[in-house]
Amino acid sequence: MTTTDSTITRRAFIAAGGAALAATATRSFPLLAAPQPRLRMALVGTGNRGSLTWGQEVVKGYSDVVEIVGLCDINRKRAEAGKALIGINAPTFVDFDRMINETRPDTVMVTTVDGTHYRYIIRGLELGCNVMTEKPLCTDEQQCQAILDAQKKSSKKITVTFNARHAPEAKKVKQLLLEKAVGDVISVDFHEYLDTSHGADYFRRWHRLKQNSGTLLVHKASHHFDLANWWLDSMPMEVTAFGDLKFYGHNNSFRSTHCRVCPYKQQCKFYWDVTQNPQYVKLYTECESEDGYLRDGCVWRDDINIYDTMSVVVKYENGVHLTYTANTYLPYEGQSVSINGSRGRLDYTEVKANGFANNEVRLTRSFGKSEAVKDLETSRAGSHGGADSSMQDQIFRGAQGSDPLNLRAGLHDGALSSLVGIAARHSIERGSQTVKINDLVKL
Ligand SMILES: NC(=O)c1ccc[n+]([C@@H]2O[C@H](COP(=O)([O-])OP(=O)(O)OC[C@H]3O[C@@H](n4cnc5c(N)ncnc54)[C@H](O)[C@@H]3O)[C@@H](O)[C@H]2O)c1
Repeated sequence: MTTTDSTITRRAFIAAGGAALAATATRSFPLLAAPQPRLRMALVGTGNRGSLTWGQEVVKGYSDVVEIVGLCDINRKRAEAGKALIGINAPTFVDFDRMINETRPDTVMVTTVDGTHYRYIIRGLELGCNVMTEKPLCTDEQQCQAILDAQKKSSKKITVTFNARHAPEAKKVKQLLLEKAVGDVISVDFHEYLDTSHGADYFRRWHRLKQNSGTLLVHKASHHFDLANWWLDSMPMEVTAFGDLKFYGHNNSFRSTHCRVCPYKQQCKFYWDVTQNPQYVKLYTECESEDGYLRDGCVWRDDINIYDTMSVVVKYENGVHLTYTANTYLPYEGQSVSINGSRGRLDYTEVKANGFANNEVRLTRSFGKSEAVKDLETSRAGSHGGADSSMQDQIFRGAQGSDPLNLRAGLHDGALSSLVGIAARHSIERGSQTVKINDLVKL
């Protein structure tokens, strides 16, 4: 066997022995030399998700492999507040190009308002960076096409950070489907329950405007459409949807701009005091002078133009029908997913009510037994039930490792999950006409 620098084995290296060899190791055997340089990551969007999950948590868990080299936000004060919360010395910017040119990152992490992701994804690629973006990849089909076109011109990679795939229950469902536990999948029922706290919060914030979030069919449901696309391993083809604003927005007799100044504090069940959360005070209320953004906006504002009640049917290339609903004003949080197959049914139920919680994956075989699936991966500590740290481990520590469940998500996954939501929105706007994904973009 001939031995080259890149193929030399550890045994051969030791057998060849000698201090002389060791002394020249870094020059002759680069693979055995000093540790890899840390990944240089710049972050745009220093709000909650940027400063905490992609800031604080990265510094805490991955400082040996990642260095945050720059922070950018359209709000100068929030960039500084984010920097203080993360606890690093990286420079802050309001100009994205300047940040990239001055800090030379390998990777850009995009955690801005949804409707602006495409700008930084495209510009990040153009400036020679790999790009990681929070979901949704984009909020309309023009943005999607522009990102697809930019990717064709670039050798750099886009990663979409779909943490929901990393929940132990989601992984188990994927594994059981790969094992054909319910035979061939015929249809899926997916119901998302958002309560009067979490659900209401979307109507307080920038998400309340379609132009920012693409509606919750894109902002929120892109997680769920991604799960369905990933589990089914098939292309969504056609989407038909209904949507209404039946609870928040104009559906109340009184309203204000935001909770702090509201004359109806005593009587409004949705009154919420943002000043009770010191982190939110730093990130939002102390930064209002720059952009006027009110974190505690009124859930009854007349300008709310997203839906709070949504029903969607998606037809897949492999013939599967997905029936999806999301309601945002419920007395409890949770999710109920049932996968109906030729040999059984797989149910994933998660309910968190006041004083009650139920979390179960159940496999029922046709003409057979029904049993709770026990061998789930243990939940980790941290945000989103540990799903964030599972995903970050894979991104930062297991980048080249095997991925039997296909957890890694890229441009194609990001595009299709957003496009289902975008198609649903168009369907609603066109009186529930069916919209074909292929008519929206050239994939
Ligand atoms: N995967 C998840 O579980 C998860 C959870 C929360 C949020 N998110 C995603 O993270 C992103 C940020 O959400 P958030 O909750 O942190 O919101 P946020 O409002 O706290 O932060 C958004 C930040 O983007 C900045 N921004 C807005 N427009 C900008 C622009 N044009 N250029 C630069 N910065 C701009 C704002 O000033 C703000 O600091 C969203 O895309 C959201 O969908 C994902």
